[in-house]
Amino acid sequence: MVAGLPRHVACVMDGNGRWAEQRGRTRTEGHRVAEGSVIDVIETSHACGIEWLTLYAFSTENWTRPDAEVAFLMRLVQRALRRHAPSLHLRGIRCRFLGGDDPRIPRSLARDIAELAELTSGNTRMTLTVAFDHGGRDAIVRAARTLVRDGLTEDAVTEEALAARFQHPDTPDVDLVIRTSGEQRVSNFMLWQIAYAEWMFPPTLWPDFRAAEYRACLEEYRRRKRRYGGLGRFDAMEMI
Ligand code: IPE
Ligand code: IPE
Ligand code: MG
Repeated sequence: MVAGLPRHVACVMDGNGRWAEQRGRTRTEGHRVAEGSVIDVIETSHACGIEWLTLYAFSTENWTRPDAEVAFLMRLVQRALRRHAPSLHLRGIRCRFLGGDDPRIPRSLARDIAELAELTSGNTRMTLTVAFDHGGRDAIVRAARTLVRDGLTEDAVTEEALAARFQHPDTPDVDLVIRTSGEQRVSNFMLWQIAYAEWMFPPTLWPDFRAAEYRACLEEYRRRKRRYGGLGRFDAMEMI
């Protein structure tokens, strides 16, 4: 792995609908072409030695879209899972989903999701998390509920205790979030885990966001200086 690369990258894959509309095509066509960008980002992350990659594929708010678009997205995800499962496994990628227990998720898709997670659970090269039916607030509420269920006393409620109760508690905080399409907002994405993430907002629409541009984002990340509320190593040295 190249020094200074992010350990955990997340992508808010935005702009599929606009990509299609700009070409006079239906929004679903944008989602279909988006699969190529997903493959590029997974392959590039794998090649660069990124350990954790999270892709925001469907939010808890996306259920409010027209039924036909939602149904198309469900089918697309299922087809992609079936098509790519063998190569993901072969590459040593552990795959899992974040969110995803809404009864509107088709049963056979839920089964495929569980099977892929099971098949790849022992892989160690990279963890690919697909945030699907994910909402950051929903995730925090669920974690808080388990604190109550576990009967913690007030003093025992700490950041660590809450973090340990998220769906995949071994997931490290996100280092870099890339949101394509120029929209500069969080849209309820992993609210707890992005506390100190670096953000990039390339104007490119997701279906056009391919390997070269992704690599450029990783390079930019290496040039950034993170401070976590402190002074940073060099500033601190100057004070002495
Ligand atoms: C992102 O593209 C994909 C999902 C949210 C499922 P959009 O569908 O949000 O595309 P725009 O933002 O309307 O262009
Ligand atoms: C965020 O994009 C969700 C995903 C990329 C899956 P949206 O397109 O749903 O977000 P808003 O509505 O523009 O905030
Ligand atoms: Mg959008």
